[in-house]
Amino acid sequence: MNEYDSDRIKNAIDAEPTDDPKKADIIIVNTCAIRDKADQKAFSSLGKYKHIKANNPDAIVGIAGCVAQLYGDKLLKKIPHLDFVLGTRSIPKLPEIISKIERDKRRTVETSYDLEELFEVEPYHKEGKVTAFVSVQQGCNKRCTYCIVPQVRGDEVNRPLNDILRETTNLVNKGVREITFIGQTVNSWKHDGNKFGDLIRAAGDVEGLERIRFTTSYPRDITKRMIDAMKDVPQVCHHLHLPVQSGSNNVLSNMKRTYTREWYVDTILRLKDALPDITISTDIIIGFPGETDRDFQDTMSLMKEIEFESSYSFKFSPRPGTVAAEYAEEETVKADIASVRLSELQAFQKDITEKKNLSRVGQIEKVLVEGESRNDPDVLSGRTDHNRILNFNGAKDLVGKTVKVKVTEGLLNSLRGELII
Ligand code: 5AD
Repeated sequence: MNEYDSDRIKNAIDAEPTDDPKKADIIIVNTCAIRDKADQKAFSSLGKYKHIKANNPDAIVGIAGCVAQLYGDKLLKKIPHLDFVLGTRSIPKLPEIISKIERDKRRTVETSYDLEELFEVEPYHKEGKVTAFVSVQQGCNKRCTYCIVPQVRGDEVNRPLNDILRETTNLVNKGVREITFIGQTVNSWKHDGNKFGDLIRAAGDVEGLERIRFTTSYPRDITKRMIDAMKDVPQVCHHLHLPVQSGSNNVLSNMKRTYTREWYVDTILRLKDALPDITISTDIIIGFPGETDRDFQDTMSLMKEIEFESSYSFKFSPRPGTVAAEYAEEETVKADIASVRLSELQAFQKDITEKKNLSRVGQIEKVLVEGESRNDPDVLSGRTDHNRILNFNGAKDLVGKTVKVKVTEGLLNSLRGELII
């Protein structure tokens, strides 16, 4: 989501990007507020530009994204070298804001939700890139008690089907072969009587589009219509990111996740019934207020029952304005206990991910070649249908093509293989 917004910001202003902040006329720090560390990172990154502004007073420094939305004008007081604060729904207003600052030299805060054309600015697309995101939804209508998103991104707004298809088709015409639809709860997308399954089917008809992914799915919105579409549309990749957050029904209920552990497990079974080779990844929050050792054991037993392909796990962090941040002190899980639990869960996941990667050795996978690997230009890199990174030796002109690769090695974060001619 943030990467997508950064690319929209890049496109909103008519400026040449630079890697050297000293040379920049405009510096915008895009931010995330989902967890505590994310907003700390934003502040420290802004701090770095203080000297730049001191040396070049004409440089314009701004903050965008969720932290901007959350703190608004307080940021101008806190950060003297900041020129503007741009909220999550204001990216299309950026050119106007910048010219006003250039003209009037006045600091500006723009965090209103009054824009009608929310999706107006499409993201910057790097020439030659074969994968791209397309936003289908902004904001969120769920009310998970730990989550700051509804506060900083507003209620759910779904994008019209034709606009999504137009952006997708334009990208395919530029050489994109894989699209990832993005939304906070992407599969709750609906518009003009169409539901998410219909969106998948319509995307399946876009000529030249080879792969369709989407993220992040909300468990309760996995419907038969969606599963049937995933089964019927051959371009849909067989991987789903499906955050469960906890394996304890007590905790799930306190989080207001609106499903039980049993319902979640059943949903995975329904998905596997339709797509037997589907892989599932998840998110887990450890140390949610009131999480007992028994609750944590329930989460561990779920991890063992499902064996997720991979998982992202985080220690709970109280976010301002959320229900869970107001829980009584005695509900708080002590930091050292949460750390021990998190380490146990992550060690378990590491073994499972390694085991799953090893089990792929000898198999032939279809890979969309995305580019050269980060460390070695002779090595090409792409992802399998199941969203695993697969590196192999090959010529650069394979970028953008879908090739068959035999897996020779399973590592923790990736696979290695040999190209099959
Ligand atoms: N504390 C810790 N983790 C959180 N997440 C969201 N809010 C919080 C919070 N307050 C995690 C969830 C979510 C992921 C994007 O971030 O697991 O799925």
